[in-house]
Amino acid sequence: MTTTKTARRPKGRRRGEACGPSGKGKAQDLPRLVQGDCIEVMADLEAESVDAVVCDPPYGIGWQNETWDSAAIRAAAARRGRGRLTKNKAFEVWCGMWGEQCARVMKPGAHLLAFGSPRTYHRLACGLEDSGLEIRDTLMWLYSSGMSKSRRYPGGRRTTLKPVLEPIVLARRPLDGTTEETIGRHGTGAMNVEACRVEDGRLPANALASHDPDCADENCDRGCAVALLDAAAAGGEGGSGTQLAPSRFLYCPKPTRAERDAGCEALPEHFFNLLPNASRGGLVRNPHPTLKPIELMRWLVRLVAPAGGLVLDPFMGSGTTGAAAAIERRRFFGIELEAPYLEVAAARIAHWGGAGRTPAPAPRDRRRRSEPRPLGTRRR
Ligand SMILES: C[S@@+](CC[C@H](N)C(=O)[O-])C[C@H]1O[C@@H](n2cnc3c(N)ncnc32)[C@H](O)[C@@H]1O
Repeated sequence: MTTTKTARRPKGRRRGEACGPSGKGKAQDLPRLVQGDCIEVMADLEAESVDAVVCDPPYGIGWQNETWDSAAIRAAAARRGRGRLTKNKAFEVWCGMWGEQCARVMKPGAHLLAFGSPRTYHRLACGLEDSGLEIRDTLMWLYSSGMSKSRRYPGGRRTTLKPVLEPIVLARRPLDGTTEETIGRHGTGAMNVEACRVEDGRLPANALASHDPDCADENCDRGCAVALLDAAAAGGEGGSGTQLAPSRFLYCPKPTRAERDAGCEALPEHFFNLLPNASRGGLVRNPHPTLKPIELMRWLVRLVAPAGGLVLDPFMGSGTTGAAAAIERRRFFGIELEAPYLEVAAARIAHWGGAGRTPAPAPRDRRRRSEPRPLGTRRR
């Protein structure tokens, strides 16, 4: 399955096919992508071999009736012999199960970043803490394209708010001695904060903001999270524009259709609603429903993975973490349950340089590949 120095071949192919983009590059540097249940696949990986885990696991909210976001989680928790559990408790137990494997394969002092849903994040954090990891921080990813799924009731009442954020838990495997000793022995223990400075060289904050997909080069879309924060920093419309510019946030775009499909030209097309519940649909070659922006994942990878280190994503989906790792010149090991997504991930990661090629930005996204712009400056 793998020729990396740090991961062993799984026992037998029953658990899934390994696949890696073909092309140039030293074998141990090529990404390794494995199909299977991540808890089983990780059980076959060498202990203390991974420099960072960056992942976007199922949120346990029954997303689009996907089995992997509901029944499979309950079944896995039940196999742990924990009796009858509520849906959310089962999610917490399951997070502890994959968290245990992550903690085992992570080097001492290695960091883990995992996205969560505002509704179930607390269970994710508790599960990871119970697995032996230390919770270090909570990052917030702000965006503006979330759709309210609330029903309307008489009197102007609704049951939910418009979703504009996703929390990201930052956890760490306990150190091996002091921070200095851990850095010396394992190259882990502290984050690459200097390499993640935002515009004007400011130290980054634990909040990240995405532009709306409809933002153009010159103008932000009305309601874009970044534009709203800009306006607030400038004291609203006609404000002085000087006080409290929140420029320690990272700017990053939501993925465009071009970013979604880049590298997948040889794969079949699927009909896909680009915004859930919206009438806007179209043909895409990467139909993954919960795609993350590459620029956001690049920043996260750069933050927690040492240069050249091995990044593990146990819930790879269509491979955005792998694409980010390729661009940031980190090695990558990805695990994905669904074979079609594995194929998409392999194509995307190869496109972004995972097979030793020069990263090739999708034409429409070229403008977005520049370094992040801070809040407090207008898009020009
Ligand atoms: C939220 S998505 C990740 C999307 C990814 N961030 C991207 O940009 O494409 C979670 C993925 O985990 C996969 N998955 C769910 N349960 C899994 C398991 N036990 N082992 C491995 N993969 C799993 C799902 O098939 C899904 O593609």
